[in-house]
Amino acid sequence: MRSYSLIAPAKINLYLEIIGDRSDGYHELVMILQSIDLADQIELHSISDETIRVHCNHPQVPTDKTNLVYRAAELMAKKFPAALAKYGGVDITVHKHIPVAAGLAGGSTNAAAVLVGIDLLWNLGLTKSELEELGGTLGSDVPFCVEGGTVIATGRGEQLSPLPSLDHIYIVLAKYRSLEVSTPWAYKTYRQQFGSGYLKDTNDLAARAAAVHSSGMVKAILDKDAAEISQKLHNDLERVVLPACPQVLQLRELFAVQEGVLGTMMSGSGPSVFAICASQPQAEQVKLRVREAIPDEDLELFVTCTTGQGIQVTGDR
Ligand code: C5P
Repeated sequence: MRSYSLIAPAKINLYLEIIGDRSDGYHELVMILQSIDLADQIELHSISDETIRVHCNHPQVPTDKTNLVYRAAELMAKKFPAALAKYGGVDITVHKHIPVAAGLAGGSTNAAAVLVGIDLLWNLGLTKSELEELGGTLGSDVPFCVEGGTVIATGRGEQLSPLPSLDHIYIVLAKYRSLEVSTPWAYKTYRQQFGSGYLKDTNDLAARAAAVHSSGMVKAILDKDAAEISQKLHNDLERVVLPACPQVLQLRELFAVQEGVLGTMMSGSGPSVFAICASQPQAEQVKLRVREAIPDEDLELFVTCTTGQGIQVTGDR
């Protein structure tokens, strides 16, 4: 029986702009997504019976069909029944390090790792773009998680244009364990409050999506200029999440005044907040000072850094 071990990195949004509605009920987005080295570890083992089993060390993570990991394996089993019959089912263990329901694509990156791992377990030889297409049926962030690195994502979030990777920009990440933001709620509330300003014309949507390629943020990324990237951070969803979550606003304000912080922003639909720092020692200092200011054990703080890698295979047997 074969096994694979994979690393599944989290992401942050350096940029998230909501530009319009889509006929499928989703939003048309322009995002710049960045992998970070805070990651989960996923282990996959072939098993003789044609079933899917999921285990996780985190009490908040379900192991049934509601878990995106389960749904990723189920999708592969449905798409490739001959491989399932030949190689057997799969036993999946998720070692969680990425905070749950945080706007860090924790579930999506786990699902991406399962797609990559089952492709290897079953000798399918799928291309990255085939894996990304399968991933898009599971969730808008899954294709990016297969790809990893620094990427412009448009459409629903699944149309990807990779940028040169940004390595070793240090980040402090903060998330209250017990605070969760529902992504559907955040988008729905945004539509209710700001939907009247959405671009309607398809040509306007395409032009707005194309414009990001020549934006200040992309130039800052090409220049690998952490200070300039920090000045250009943007997330439209802050407009609905910050007023609803005073703790997130407080973190955002606390990060903004710390020495060594170049810029701060909420990631995705929140509630995690990140701060870009000038160096690793500065990031460690910022983490200490925020911990002193908020000694609440419910607050998780991490020092992490940007990485150019998506899903990585670290072992096989
Ligand atoms: O695709 P995913 O399942 O991650 O999306 C979660 C929810 O976020 C969707 O059900 C939708 O409410 C919202 N969403 C959206 N537009 C996007 C991506 C997500 O409205 N482009």
